[in-house]
Amino acid sequence: MLHPIRCVLQRSLHHGSCRRLSLSAQCYNTGRKGLVLGVYEKNKEEENLVLTQAGDRFDAIVSGKLRDQLTRSGPSLKKGKSRIFYGLNEEFPSVVVVGLGKESAGFNQHEVWNERKENIRTAVSVACRQLQDMEIEQVEVDPCGDAQAAAEGALLGLFEYDELKKKKKKLVSTRPYGSQEAEAWQKGVSYAEGQNLARYLMEAPANYMTPTKFAQIFEEQLGKLGGDVKVFTRSKQWIEEQQMGAFLSVAKGSDEPPVLLEIHYSGSPDPKEQPLVFVGKGVTFDSGGISIKPSSGMDAMRADMGGAATVSSAILTAATLKLPINLIGLAPLCENMPNGRANKPGDVVRAKNGKTIQVDNTDAEGRLLLADALCYAHGFNARAIVNAATLTGAMDVALGSAATGVFTNSSWLWTHLQEAGAVTGDRVWRMPLFEHYSKQVTESALADLNNVGKYSRSGGACTAAAFLKQFVTVPHWAHLDIAGVMSNKDEVPYMRKGMAGRPTRTLTEFADRLSKDKNPS
Ligand code: BES
Ligand code: ZN
Ligand code: ZN
Repeated sequence: MLHPIRCVLQRSLHHGSCRRLSLSAQCYNTGRKGLVLGVYEKNKEEENLVLTQAGDRFDAIVSGKLRDQLTRSGPSLKKGKSRIFYGLNEEFPSVVVVGLGKESAGFNQHEVWNERKENIRTAVSVACRQLQDMEIEQVEVDPCGDAQAAAEGALLGLFEYDELKKKKKKLVSTRPYGSQEAEAWQKGVSYAEGQNLARYLMEAPANYMTPTKFAQIFEEQLGKLGGDVKVFTRSKQWIEEQQMGAFLSVAKGSDEPPVLLEIHYSGSPDPKEQPLVFVGKGVTFDSGGISIKPSSGMDAMRADMGGAATVSSAILTAATLKLPINLIGLAPLCENMPNGRANKPGDVVRAKNGKTIQVDNTDAEGRLLLADALCYAHGFNARAIVNAATLTGAMDVALGSAATGVFTNSSWLWTHLQEAGAVTGDRVWRMPLFEHYSKQVTESALADLNNVGKYSRSGGACTAAAFLKQFVTVPHWAHLDIAGVMSNKDEVPYMRKGMAGRPTRTLTEFADRLSKDKNPS
């Protein structure tokens, strides 16, 4: 059997096939080829429709037939709506023209994102999926003036987790139409492949994606990148030696052994430069433990390792792109299950830094793993520590899937995260770290801390963040609660339904920005 991850990466490699141009040139004329072209929304007073540069070029090749047929076949195409033309040209028997929205679109300060890039991602995604449904395997894509956004739209749009099905979606290889912007296209391919890897890991069933398997996948993938990258798969015994009592207390409720995955990427020209440390919650299945969750919808808790998946995938992408930065990734991985040794409500456990925690709700397990991982992160002389976790249902109640909630003690980090989110369209929104919430987790009958807030339901995302803060002493720390953005129904139009792999691209972009800003203030 083909190793599933090899399969998904083969697929995505295939999608970004501009690296294999010589090879694909040989087979290019044998298969059916499709072309995706963008068109801007028409202003009322304008008579002629506005094609992109690539569209104009293609229209010239087909002696104006594209413009002619597009005008005659119906009204101006609205944003994300498409029309398909057959037989315009021998090389491309099928041409999908798709609406890009207003040509004037750019940064939208109310939405805090770049609307132009979002429009391109959506349009390209729609068109590529249409050609995939027609079983067309080779698609050339209009870069639409922003080849990175176009590549992201293509690859994110085409991804589907069908590893375990007999009937699979057709593999589609995409490349930019025309020879310009190859580098930006390739950057988009890397960004999207990173997110697709996170989607793959999150979507995979928990009986496949165990802590051990998760770590193996990163050992394999990062191992290919060579010297700048080191991977350590820390065993249960190592975790015990580190006295990570909070993490271990969760893991012992399952027969599946825990792992702490530790990734080092040294990309900075100065090997002594302080690293940026990422930490990700890696609960490969969260049943709730003894405080068991309702059975309806529990299957989604296979994605409770989304923090680990997104931070590790972002580091893989950073290493692939050879970003000039030192990065460390820490992913405490385990299952939260209710066996005879599991945490019981009221149990008291001891974290690595000696603090005791009363576990009143075994379903608030993420903060226990993270407490120990954050203590460990403090040993690396980090320039900043950023953790991501599908931590609370309350985060989903607060913001839904619009943005990741960011709790941070650093305006420097906040600015970079916000700017990164605006560029990727995978946005963040700042949340409070008031003392008000800290008081609610530092009152406990039996221990130093309680793993749930005193007024359990009120401000649940904020009390969880306040709990993590008890394990942080560095001046630049951010906690990203990604529970609300874990999955996609149809809110992000350029991805199919399923686990979203958010905010992998924002973390990558954030690392890219930090590699250019060496000054933490
Ligand atoms: N993994 C869940 C949070 C979650 C919920 C993520 C929905 C994604 C979608 C977390 O471990 C959890 O169960 N949190 C509890 C905390 C509560 C017991 C204080 C929650 O949010 O209900
Ligand atoms: Zn839980
Ligand atoms: Zn959880």
